[in-house]
Amino acid sequence: MDHYAVVGNPIAHSKSPWIHAAFARQTGQALVYQTLLAPLDGFEQSVTAFRIGGGRGLNVTVPFKLEAFALANHHTPRAEAAGAVNTLAFGPDGILGDNTDGAGLVRDLSFNLHCPLVGRRILLLGAGGATRGVLLPLLTSLPASLTIANRTASKAIALAERFIPHAGRARVDGCGFEELAGRRFDLVINATAASLADELPPLPPGLYAEGALAYDMMYGRGQTPFLRAALADGAARVADGLGMLVEQAAESFALWRGVRPDSAPVLAELRRLVEAS
Ligand code: ATR
Repeated sequence: MDHYAVVGNPIAHSKSPWIHAAFARQTGQALVYQTLLAPLDGFEQSVTAFRIGGGRGLNVTVPFKLEAFALANHHTPRAEAAGAVNTLAFGPDGILGDNTDGAGLVRDLSFNLHCPLVGRRILLLGAGGATRGVLLPLLTSLPASLTIANRTASKAIALAERFIPHAGRARVDGCGFEELAGRRFDLVINATAASLADELPPLPPGLYAEGALAYDMMYGRGQTPFLRAALADGAARVADGLGMLVEQAAESFALWRGVRPDSAPVLAELRRLVEAS
């Protein structure tokens, strides 16, 4: 049996073991996937012990994604762009660091939610790790424009400038929330940590263009406060981040095992479990 785990702190409530067990059953892959609680000051030791014990790969979650980046010997371009790693693969060449968050988001949007990104005006709220993790895959999807807005405007502006070389023909800009007044978007993605504190980013009204989708990277039972506010402000559709969670897992599974699971039935079952919890 090959061993994998998700490492974080806290980690007990992670849904990744359930998701990967479902993928393994579906694809007939013989593997064990568990949680690994690392001490806040002991990430590297925990990873090394897991690897020496025969572990093949790890998912990495809060608060270790930057340390995982530093620990990896080589990185995929999307991990390099994000400066953060959520997937480690142990091989003969050392430790590969990947970041599957952005690909998971793009796949959830374009495949599960039928929201094509080509030519769209995208607004990304927040300028922390969650935003950095998805910027390159979003830009690779050829939107017309990508605006990063953040409570601390300077962070959004700096991040936008860093990604302009990756933008192709897309217009990329950064600003504070107030400067969004009068602008309209086809897709608004909440990547701030505001929902964790049950707060809302203070957005001006009228951001949603006709048919627009509001997407919250957070998820839970029922709609998040951000999604409720988006509907009240005219968003045509809303979606939470459960699909992104399953799709980033599918991307990691494919990297490790060379087999892409069918995520749709796993997402449907997980949605049922979350709503029943
Ligand atoms: P992560 O790595 O999880 O993205 P982070 O780097 O701490 O976490 O970033 C959190 C993001 O959420 C930041 O963009 C933060 O805005 P600031 O840069 O101004 O701190 C944003 N954020 C957190 N709480 C918020 C709130 N109540 N309203 C709006 N934005 C918030």
